[in-house]
Order: sequence, then structure tokens, then C-alpha cells
Amino acid sequence: MMRHASRILAAVAASALLPAVAAAQSWSDQPVKPADHEAEFAVSYEDGGIYYNEEDIPTYNVAEDGTVDWLTFSGFRRYHSECHVCHGPDGEGSSYAPKIKNSAVHMGYYDFYDVVVNGRQNGNSVMPHFGDNQNVMCYLNDIYVYLSARGMDAVPRGRPPKKEAKSDLIREQEDACMG
Ligand code: HEC
Repeated sequence: MMRHASRILAAVAASALLPAVAAAQSWSDQPVKPADHEAEFAVSYEDGGIYYNEEDIPTYNVAEDGTVDWLTFSGFRRYHSECHVCHGPDGEGSSYAPKIKNSAVHMGYYDFYDVVVNGRQNGNSVMPHFGDNQNVMCYLNDIYVYLSARGMDAVPRGRPPKKEAKSDLIREQEDACMG
């Protein structure tokens, strides 16, 4: 009888642990194996200096000589003005907030967008919402593309030394968004 009860208790205790373990393993803790994700980030076409994968999601493009597309370069700058204070330089994470270069790869475009627009809270750990912040929203594709490139190890840490010119289309979209 006693034995039976303690076995049930042990099972209850073990299952109670599961949600805690799952919560602790956020996307950012999962290492990225670039080979597993190449297809998701492969360039399918380019339009006005913006590169897209086959699902029409913006992606990065790095030439053989290291020249990056404009969004990757712009994302580097925007990330370091809006996100770096919590998430650490180059998307590497800090003791305070997760390593979102990995999150960008694992979460995918839509879930990534959702968290940045709406924010998220997990106890004392708070990701602010940026949905009403033009300096983030008008450049969120750039930030996503830059972080994906970092997560996929397509660009090294630091400021990309060579970049494509900013296209007229990108300039127009920026002006329209910033108002
Ligand atoms: C004030 C600090 C702070 C700033 C600024 C901030 N974040 Fe966060 N962010 C956090 C914290 C803390 C978390 C973890 C929240 C949680 O535990 O659920 C987080 C989580 C995230 C996640 C989810 C990661 C995952 O693996 O689930 C994404 C994506 C993200 N942030 C993107 C951004 C982007 C992009 C910016 C800049 C536009 C930004 N954050 C700016 C604190 C911040």
C-alpha cells in the first residue's frame, strides 16, 4: 500500500517537472545546425534589393567577397540601437535576455514578428512590446534578416564591412512607413 502510494507520488512529481523543463528550454537555447535550415533561407528571388525565400519571406544574401544585402546591414544597425541593450551584441544573448540569433532561425518569421509586436512575459522576464514603435516596426524585416544571418553563421560578429547600396524601393518603403 505504502509502496503503491509513493510510486504514484513519484510519477506526479516527475510529470510536474516536465513543464518547468520545457519552459527553461526556449528557442534561444537550441543550437542551430545551419545545414538543417539552408533551404528555409535560400534566396529564391530578388526584388529591388530585397531578397526572398520561396515563401516570400525576406532573407539575407551574402556575396562571395562578403558584401551583404542592404537589409542585413541595416538590421545590424537597428538591432544595435533597439535590442542590443538587453539581448547583447550580435544577437549573442546576455544574462538578462535570450540569444535571439538562434530564436530567429528556430521560431521562423511569423512567430518572431509576433513576439516583437506584442511582447511577452515569463515571471520577471519581460520582453517589451514594440508594435507602436516605428523605429522598430519599420525595420523589423531588417532586424529579422540580420539575426537569421547571424544564427545561420552567414555573417560574422561585428559591423558588416561591405554592403549593397540602398535601393530606391527600400528608400520608398522606409519613407512610407516612417511617415
Ligand atoms: C528591455 C529589454 C529588452 C529589449 C530592449 C528587447 N528585448 Fe527581446 N526579450 C527580452 C526578454 C527578457 C526576453 C525573454 C522573455 C521571456 O522570458 O519570455 C525577450 C525575448 C525575445 C524574443 C523571444 C526569444 C525566444 O527564444 O523565445 C524575441 C524574438 C525578442 N525578444 C526579440 C527582440 C527584438 C527584435 C528586440 C529589439 C527590437 C528586442 N527583443 C528588444 C528583453 C528585451
